[in-house]
Amino acid sequence: MSKQRVLTGITTTGTPHLGNYVGAIRPAIEASRDTNNESFYFLADFHALIKCQDPAAVHQSTKEIAATWLALGLDTDNAVFYRQSDVPEIPQLTWFLNCICAKGLMNRAHAYKAAVDANLEEGEDADKAVTMGLFSYPVLMAADILMFGAHKVPVGKDQIQHVEMARAMAQRFNHIYCKNEPLLTLPDYQVDDDAAVLQGLDGRKMSKSYGNTIPLFLPEKKLQKHINKIKTNLLEPGEPKDPDTSAVFQIWKAFATQEQTAEMRQAFAEGIGWGDAKKKLFALINEEVAEARERYEDLLARPADIEAELQKGAEKARSFSRPMLEKVRAAVGISGLA
Ligand code: TRP
Repeated sequence: MSKQRVLTGITTTGTPHLGNYVGAIRPAIEASRDTNNESFYFLADFHALIKCQDPAAVHQSTKEIAATWLALGLDTDNAVFYRQSDVPEIPQLTWFLNCICAKGLMNRAHAYKAAVDANLEEGEDADKAVTMGLFSYPVLMAADILMFGAHKVPVGKDQIQHVEMARAMAQRFNHIYCKNEPLLTLPDYQVDDDAAVLQGLDGRKMSKSYGNTIPLFLPEKKLQKHINKIKTNLLEPGEPKDPDTSAVFQIWKAFATQEQTAEMRQAFAEGIGWGDAKKKLFALINEEVAEARERYEDLLARPADIEAELQKGAEKARSFSRPMLEKVRAAVGISGLA
């Protein structure tokens, strides 16, 4: 059986946090070790510009995210790890897709619709602050996916629609340009229902947009401090506590073995104090991340090494994207005359 090609992108805004780690990074690095897969992971820095127009922030985030994946042991011989902007074939494919993608399809994209709805609610012009980047975001994402013939695209639920749109664009392209022998592979999304969605400091989903995150590679003391800030109730030590409504327990579960989870459930029933529970949680997380944190700090101090990895990845990525773009160009009628 031929290998499954698995591809996903990480938008380069912000600093990776524990929610990103358990929900996306940890499962992706595990999947990259599966020899039935051919994995493509990339830093979606073109996508970052849609959300963030602070150049220093985009640059810093790119460095931090790359260092994070490398420090956590992504095997870059096994997986193709690259930066979107290092693959010039992607924006070219984006244009070809723009020319077959119905505007009406983009009108239905959730992110765009949410922006329009928010504007209308505030009595503003529907398109206030809506850039063409935001509007056509799913076309660029389709190019990311279709460029490499991905079969499976692991994403969060909010991105399902975008993968479906990529599939629709591939179908349309094949229908117009290559009826006999479809050129573009139809991708499927993959949503991991078991992947933990972590609660943040305030008990809502851990997310940069809520400002309630715990960064993954905080120095030890700061990590402890952040964990101490996780919202709890006023129950005293000795009083039984409900694990299932507790962010402390929920984060514990994402890092613990089944046995450790059962033990903590028991401790809650027996009235473990919040201070104690948080101390234990800190120790557990710290144990899992300590080694990688050292590698992370080391890498950040040597950005040339990160860059070298990305260049190696870009070379590999382009060994796929160059021939693919040639075929796409030929299919649409753009090629040499002799
Ligand atoms: N839009 C995705 C996100 O915000 C990131 C992304 C960009 C992506 N291109 C992709 C994900 C291609 C999967 C495939 O999470």
